[in-house]
Amino acid sequence: MSSETRTLDNVKDVILSAHMNLSPAEKVEFYNTWSENYDKDVSLLDYRAPLLAANLVSAHFPGERGAALVLDVACGTGLVAAEMKKHGFGRLVGLDGSKGMLQLATNTGLYEDVRQCMLGEDQLPVTWGGLVCMTTRSNRDNLLYKACLEQQLKIMEEEGLWSCVTTTEVEEWERAVSADEEGYIGGCVYIYRVSDVKP
Ligand SMILES: C[S@@+](CC[C@H](N)C(=O)[O-])C[C@H]1O[C@@H](n2cnc3c(N)ncnc32)[C@H](O)[C@@H]1O
Repeated sequence: MSSETRTLDNVKDVILSAHMNLSPAEKVEFYNTWSENYDKDVSLLDYRAPLLAANLVSAHFPGERGAALVLDVACGTGLVAAEMKKHGFGRLVGLDGSKGMLQLATNTGLYEDVRQCMLGEDQLPVTWGGLVCMTTRSNRDNLLYKACLEQQLKIMEEEGLWSCVTTTEVEEWERAVSADEEGYIGGCVYIYRVSDVKP
């Protein structure tokens, strides 16, 4: 189906097929196949995550934004970067496991660098000072993934790689798509600071 004729029901079908317990590799492959329609589809979902994430980064960053380096983890097509630029952040690096999504992120011209990286498998390239922004859904079918992510973030904090600036639950992330959920689902934004520049 062409992206011009897509409806919210089409988008719900796509999302529900991926909200099941997919392996990380399957999830990334799903995003490869969805990448072309992603931006249009998430606008039908009233996807507010990029706006909410950028607002939080901005609220927690008192310094000069033009030179601040922000690592946008699971950057997708670059929607978070577009919002970050509106707040004056000048230096963005995007990471994602999906080549298809990364290609679109590259095409935006918003990132000074984009890198393919599999979360949970590859080490995050947090070898420089800066802020790290990550997001995930907080609805029921994502709770296991969310708990694993948080455990991983905590381990990295205990290893001294970074410190948590904020973990903030936010409402009205995007429209609910499951039959047992109504209205909007929530999400969570994680912001970390990599304080030491490492060799
Ligand atoms: C819901 S999209 C969010 C993209 C972007 N942050 C946004 O708000 O539009 C999730 C992104 O996470 C990426 N992703 C999912 N699992 C991943 C993994 N294990 N490693 C790296 N990227 C992953 C997908 O390829 C996809 O681009």
